Amino acid sequence: MGLRKNLSKMSQKIFIKTFGCQMNEYDSNRIYDSVKKIGYEKTDTYEDANCYLLNTCHIRDKAKEKVYHEIGRVKKIFRSKKKPLVIIAGCVAQAENQEMLTREPYIDLVIGPQSYHKINNTILNHFQKKRKIEETEFDAVSKFKYFNKIKNEAEKVSSFLTIQEGCDKFCHFCVVPYTRGPEYSRPFQQIVDEAKYLSQNGTKEIILLGQNVNAYNDGKKRLSNLIMEIEKIKNIKRIRYTTSHPKDMTEDLIDVYKNSQKLMPLVHLPVQSGSDKILKLMNRKHTIKDYLYIYEKLKKTRSKIEFSSDFIIGYPGEQDEDFKNTLSLIEKINFINSYSFIFSARPGTVAFGLKSIDKKISMQRLEKIQNKLYENQINRNKLFKDQIIEVLVENLTDDKSQTFGRSEYMTSVVFNGNKKHIGKIVSVKIKKFNRTTLFGEIVEDLDKKVA
Ligand code: SAM
Ligand code: SF4
Ligand code: F3S
Repeated sequence: MGLRKNLSKMSQKIFIKTFGCQMNEYDSNRIYDSVKKIGYEKTDTYEDANCYLLNTCHIRDKAKEKVYHEIGRVKKIFRSKKKPLVIIAGCVAQAENQEMLTREPYIDLVIGPQSYHKINNTILNHFQKKRKIEETEFDAVSKFKYFNKIKNEAEKVSSFLTIQEGCDKFCHFCVVPYTRGPEYSRPFQQIVDEAKYLSQNGTKEIILLGQNVNAYNDGKKRLSNLIMEIEKIKNIKRIRYTTSHPKDMTEDLIDVYKNSQKLMPLVHLPVQSGSDKILKLMNRKHTIKDYLYIYEKLKKTRSKIEFSSDFIIGYPGEQDEDFKNTLSLIEKINFINSYSFIFSARPGTVAFGLKSIDKKISMQRLEKIQNKLYENQINRNKLFKDQIIEVLVENLTDDKSQTFGRSEYMTSVVFNGNKKHIGKIVSVKIKKFNRTTLFGEIVEDLDKKVA
């Protein structure tokens, strides 16, 4: 194609900005793997770009307005320059589709999460036919077939790998089933091949991703099989997965914690509320009893496992007693590294029309819960003081004076390493800590000990 050649010859610079979850981050990287083929190079400076891509999130309030606000910023930056090609991707693109092109003429292309395999052709078509285009079909099969052909070029110590997309659970508050479509699991071998390829390019930790990652299902192969298969890749030293649903926390997955040497002991398992009444109203399809069963089983399987979670505060119908139940669940499980949000009514979801509870009460409850979660984090980090822990080293700190890595529990660790430690697991003695970070000194290179 002539235009393809011409585009490749020109200096094309793309600026990609990503909002939202890790799946969006994975997608943004894969979009870049794709547009590289038609000559785009990444830039971290707005002004240098002739293509601006915004990968959006629709999960909470004002998501749409945030996008238009950001476009306003871009407009200002490019006021006295040539307008860049403006592409809106992600969950707001999916939800708003054509509407975005009408409301904001500065936008040229709108592309939903299951249509990224079409991105190169959409860009080329836009230039050829000089028209605005919207692509929002759900076609996960073609998407992953395409991205399987063009390799995942991430050269990071810790890399995301999407194995499953979409959701069939329809929690009453959530937009994901509408923006990401029905559940789809990628073929088993495709994922293993991608993990192997990542490991050849320096990846030491794989974080398997899915909106319902533990619902992964390719024929008889489940997430448990996938973890044990990735475990065999010599250079992969750590495996994580997120985000899970309690309903899909099956016995085979729990058993993996017995058999795997590389699966990390932090389980991110969103519970949303500690009250069965609220869980029912949310259509969560699990009870607190179910949740505690999983907790106890996992703790029995591997006692060092810790839990993190997501909480929604102020869901319609939440009374003091429900909120107290959430607080006592947090006390019982001692969640670390968790997220809590005030309920946000999302258009198109069942909970949208429900009578919301007083904003002030929600705010007070959120503050209480966050204080409790922060306290747990601090208390957990305190236990590491003077301990020697294993850290996977990811990079140098911004000022290049120290090294940054993560503990088995995903906590940031800053210590006195150097460039040659990047990609290795090292022993670090923890000297100081705050809520989010541990600070220490290197003791020994543990890399040789890891299979
Ligand atoms: N699939 C995961 C699960 O089942 O818990 C969650 C995925 S969702 C992308 C991430 C988190 O966003 C949820 O766990 C929930 O706490 C939060 N969330 C989703 N919709 C929300 C809403 N309408 N208001 C506030 N928080 C919301
Ligand atoms: Fe949203 Fe997760 Fe519920 Fe699916 S299971 S609807 S992604 S909160
Ligand atoms: Fe947001 Fe879509 Fe992820 S709504 S949280 S970017 S799945």
